[in-house]
Amino acid sequence: MALRRRGRPRKNVSRHERLLMQKILDGNFTVGVVGLGYVGLPMALEFSKNGIRTIGVDLDEKKVRALNSGRNYIQDLNPADIRHVTTKSKKLSASTNIADVKNCDVIYVCVPTPFTPNKDPDISHIVSAATGIAAVLHRGQLVILKSTTFPGTTEKYVKPILDSSKLICGKEYFLAFSPERIDPGNRHWTTKTTPVVVAGVTTACTDLAVAVNKHIIGEVVAVSSPMVAEMEKLLENIFRSVNIALVNEMAQLCDRMGVNIWEVVQAASTKPFGFMPFYPGPGIGGHCILIDPYYLSWAAREHDFVTNFITLAAEVNESMPFYVRSMIEREIAKQPVTLERAKVCLLGMAFKKDVDDLRHSPALKVAELLIDHGIENVSFFDPFIKSVEVHGNVLHSRTRLTEKFLQRQDVVVITTDHSSFDIDFIVSNSRVVIDTRNAAKNIKGSRKNIVLLGEGR
Ligand SMILES: NC(=O)c1ccc[n+]([C@@H]2O[C@H](COP(=O)([O-])OP(=O)(O)OC[C@H]3O[C@@H](n4cnc5c(N)ncnc54)[C@H](O)[C@@H]3O)[C@@H](O)[C@H]2O)c1
Repeated sequence: MALRRRGRPRKNVSRHERLLMQKILDGNFTVGVVGLGYVGLPMALEFSKNGIRTIGVDLDEKKVRALNSGRNYIQDLNPADIRHVTTKSKKLSASTNIADVKNCDVIYVCVPTPFTPNKDPDISHIVSAATGIAAVLHRGQLVILKSTTFPGTTEKYVKPILDSSKLICGKEYFLAFSPERIDPGNRHWTTKTTPVVVAGVTTACTDLAVAVNKHIIGEVVAVSSPMVAEMEKLLENIFRSVNIALVNEMAQLCDRMGVNIWEVVQAASTKPFGFMPFYPGPGIGGHCILIDPYYLSWAAREHDFVTNFITLAAEVNESMPFYVRSMIEREIAKQPVTLERAKVCLLGMAFKKDVDDLRHSPALKVAELLIDHGIENVSFFDPFIKSVEVHGNVLHSRTRLTEKFLQRQDVVVITTDHSSFDIDFIVSNSRVVIDTRNAAKNIKGSRKNIVLLGEGR
């Protein structure tokens, strides 16, 4: 049988490709998902909700235990959906043993890609997952890497590990890269509604990966090689990093020049073409935008190329928590209190609005920097985060904000603009509010005690 790709029949279709394609088209296949975090679990849920038998693998026993007893642990997912697929339809089960993917037709790899303390890429989780898969790999399986990584990872690192099985890529087993675009907290653009990019090592690999993704995603876009897909994912995230750095730099300039950056961005946004608004803040966080520029800069070095522009953007964004600390210290200096005795409360510890993700959070960095400068009375309130560790000490979130507590603070800082914050209440009961997110833009009362980042006051 000749398979059709973009309207043209293709010759030399291997028996294993044909059989796997048939299973996929019939919806009669099994999925394995390695790494059940913010990326892996939503995808495992989507397949299992579609009636596809799915096996999730994670090293974290707590996650595996939670899922196998029907409990959800990812904020955006519906707990009833997780309960249904794990305990009623039983389409989703979890394991800590990667060998359990041996009977899966399609295996997604959704493991973390952090950086080392020196900010070099750490793809050890990908290598370990690929090694585990290689040990049980057999003919007719498709492996799709989803973790964000530098160009070349799929073909130069993952493929040689899978090739150690002695199977032939593109004929006996299949390998593709398909980067993830999930935006936690975004109700509109979900796993299902966000288009994805896919590229296989061979045409057969691409065709199979497109077909399987179509089961759970509305629009699947094939590109010519895994390196293109790996690079386009980095472009998406670096595009954000660079534009956020630009407004962060302009916010600092606006502070000096006495111009309100928020009004400037709003005014520029009235241009119907050629401009997209980005907003300043206390820095960037999460597992993507902060890390990904370093993945590309590292890969560029191998080609005697220095990514000045990208590195500068990362530098500006990483300077923002330091800038916020200096704003806080300036406000403390205006009051009859020493740094050691000053009370500072940070509102919002998660790295962005309405999520419970603390990874690389700029608010956490601000807390660390304040403590480094001898400010001992640092507290925080975040409805999504129970506690954080700062330099080995555990800080617990306030359970609620009271008038009395706010009045006792020398400085209150809005570090994350969670929707549930009662900004009017916060502003009317605090002595000084440093607003790093323009969260108080619509308050009804006086703004006299608000110091807005980039307002130039
Ligand atoms: N979180 C996002 O919004 C997002 C968006 C797009 C892309 N990404 C990318 O997707 C990848 C995964 O990110 P995430 O946010 O889901 O990470 P995560 O930390 O939430 O989840 C990863 C999971 O993989 C598990 N794991 C690690 N090594 C493993 C191994 N060898 N075998 C089995 N399980 C293993 C961890 O225990 C963890 O539960 C990263 O490359 C990230 O850059 C994330």
